[in-house]
Amino acid sequence: CGIVGFLGTCPALEIIVQALKGLEYRGYDSSGVALIEHGRLLRHRAVGTLDQLMKVLPETTKSTLGIGHTRWATHGAPEERNAHPQVSHGIAVVHNGIIENFSELKAQLLKQGYAFESETDTEVVAHFIHQHYSKSKNVEEVFSKVLKELEGSFALAIILEDHPNHIFIARKGISPLAIGRSAKGISLCSDTLSLVGIADELSYIEDGVWGDLSLEGIKIFDENQISQSIEFVPHPLGKDSLGRGEFSHYMLKEMYEQPDIVLKEGTQTLDIPKELSKALHITLIGCGSAFYAAWGGKYYLEQLANRIVTLELASEFHYRNPVVQDGVTIAVSQSGETADTLKAIQYMEQHGQYTVGMVNVPHSSISRQVHYEILTKAGPEIGVASTKAFTAQLLCLLKISMNLMQDSVRKQKILKGLKQLPLDMQKIFFKVSQLQDIAQHLVHSKGIIFLGRGMSYPVALEGALKMSELSYIPGQGFAAGELKHGPLALVDACTPVVVLAPMDQFFEKTVSNIYEVCAREGKVFVITDNAGAEQLAGVPVQDIFVYPSPTTWELHPFLSVLTLQLIAYYTALHKGCSIDQPRNLAKAVTVE
Ligand code: G6P
Repeated sequence: CGIVGFLGTCPALEIIVQALKGLEYRGYDSSGVALIEHGRLLRHRAVGTLDQLMKVLPETTKSTLGIGHTRWATHGAPEERNAHPQVSHGIAVVHNGIIENFSELKAQLLKQGYAFESETDTEVVAHFIHQHYSKSKNVEEVFSKVLKELEGSFALAIILEDHPNHIFIARKGISPLAIGRSAKGISLCSDTLSLVGIADELSYIEDGVWGDLSLEGIKIFDENQISQSIEFVPHPLGKDSLGRGEFSHYMLKEMYEQPDIVLKEGTQTLDIPKELSKALHITLIGCGSAFYAAWGGKYYLEQLANRIVTLELASEFHYRNPVVQDGVTIAVSQSGETADTLKAIQYMEQHGQYTVGMVNVPHSSISRQVHYEILTKAGPEIGVASTKAFTAQLLCLLKISMNLMQDSVRKQKILKGLKQLPLDMQKIFFKVSQLQDIAQHLVHSKGIIFLGRGMSYPVALEGALKMSELSYIPGQGFAAGELKHGPLALVDACTPVVVLAPMDQFFEKTVSNIYEVCAREGKVFVITDNAGAEQLAGVPVQDIFVYPSPTTWELHPFLSVLTLQLIAYYTALHKGCSIDQPRNLAKAVTVE
């Protein structure tokens, strides 16, 4: 989900729509806007992508104040009645987050005679505000109650017909919220990417405050009405940082940007805090693709830096109440906003750990939470399925490991390889027609198996995730060594098996797995390097995709993951799927 708002001296609708466009990758089940024009509240909503909303919006409006929302459904199906803004008697609310005590509040409001049109927790907020505002007509009191009585995590923007020149905001818990400023007016958002080209300066709103925004000024208070100071910093991104240029999809553009990221960042030194240098035990935490990148990092840190590394899925972690030993936590997150990851960091900090946030978005909630920030510097990633951010995360984790490693000869070898790597990655793009052919073979399958050993195992998992997210063909990743312990039962003439078989210490064993699949009539698609391909001549596989051999095993994942990303992309393209906005997903998940 995402929320935006604007008030200024020019028409607000155009700016709100522009901001919503920048936010669409955060949720695209439905969207809506509310404006105040001539003292009246107007609302427009639609199910589906923003294009659907555009069809129901008025061509012109004089309103200079409004709020907007794109939804990723949590409470209630993606239907118009569940889309935001939710309204109660001249009060409109957009909301990002979850109100945990909404059932209890709803029961009270029902008793008082409020009728509910939607299944959302947001409508509860709208009626709650109306209930208190109608009694006291005092916004200070109302927002104090909002902060004290609504439980959970939320970022809210609210407009009231009674206050036609004001937008009210409130933030509690881990839901991000920022205010923007420019000559045109004051804006607000839950994701600062949406204010690129709208706000010159940003102020990040802290947990537990509410605000009153108008052209007379920005006033922020805590729940006890104590005024809070706010600071603005320049917006970190310029207008030219967005757009997909000549590429048909953001995802394609972002895949093509990967060699450049490795070129720019590969051999740059990375500063790390002394707490991390000294730590013997490192915990790596993340969700989704960031978790698989962290998994790759585990192999690097163990094998290159000789550290004890624990890998944790953020969404499972803190609920287990795990015992925390001495050490450092590295939380990996593209957006820096993933609620589960943020909660896991907070848990580690409460238990005395030093935390490092490896994020792609500066000033994000994770950046502000952790003791030390490492920026992955991949540039804005808009495609919902992560590609370049994964590669940048893996690169940072490799560089941390190189920082910590003792063996300087090996370090030099990796550095030399990193210089060559961008060119080798480029060479994969020269062979996309073969990947398109492979995708054509995969497009009608009911399920695809991905196998890898060592570093190729997390890459296989990431490849399976990319395939599932983009093409909706279930991809299942397995450690190749586990094949005979179950997954082999899935193999038949109809289930393609994609095998990562780079020429590394596991090559021979992986080749045995290929034979095992072939013996059961499985269709094997091998991804390997030149050296591996030489050894595979004569093996009865369906196809072999060959990338240039890197100087050392640590670099295979950069080449194999790019190959798997492209295969998933073309499979989804052949199927006619929505590439940049796969169904049911959102780029950043700010709810637990
Ligand atoms: C969502 C996205 C994934 C991403 C995951 C973690 O599920 O769709 O692409 O890997 O969140 O996001 P983060 O921003 O923490 O890396």
